[in-house]
Amino acid sequence: MLAYNIDHVAIAVRDLDDAIERYRTLYGVEAIRREIVADQGVEEAMLPVGGSFVQLLAPLGADTPVGRFLQVRGEGLHHVAFAVADINQALAHLETEGARLIDRQPRRGGGGARIAFVHPKETAGTLIELVEHDDG
Ligand code: CO
Repeated sequence: MLAYNIDHVAIAVRDLDDAIERYRTLYGVEAIRREIVADQGVEEAMLPVGGSFVQLLAPLGADTPVGRFLQVRGEGLHHVAFAVADINQALAHLETEGARLIDRQPRRGGGGARIAFVHPKETAGTLIELVEHDDG
């Protein structure tokens, strides 16, 4: 089995402080990690819910992937991230299936995890992220 857990569901927001406060007030979930990921042009916050996270994503500028996403589609679901034990194996499998990959090689994401994105056209317009944590 390649994907064994939903690692996180990522929501694009314009105002990270405001979004964190809404989730805290409405659902009682607290942000445990907040981090600028310059490589992706975002500031992200991770909010634990059970064994998974809601990831709030705010762009560092208008001319970033999430900045452009907000201009075109507005706030809302940005991607779903699957935890995988072996991201290289998962990417090799996707290549075998002919899937369009945004990242052919893993790169470093938030928290130092190895991540890769799969094109949203493969799954009805939903951007999928693969996540392999150092602890497996
Ligand atoms: Co993510």
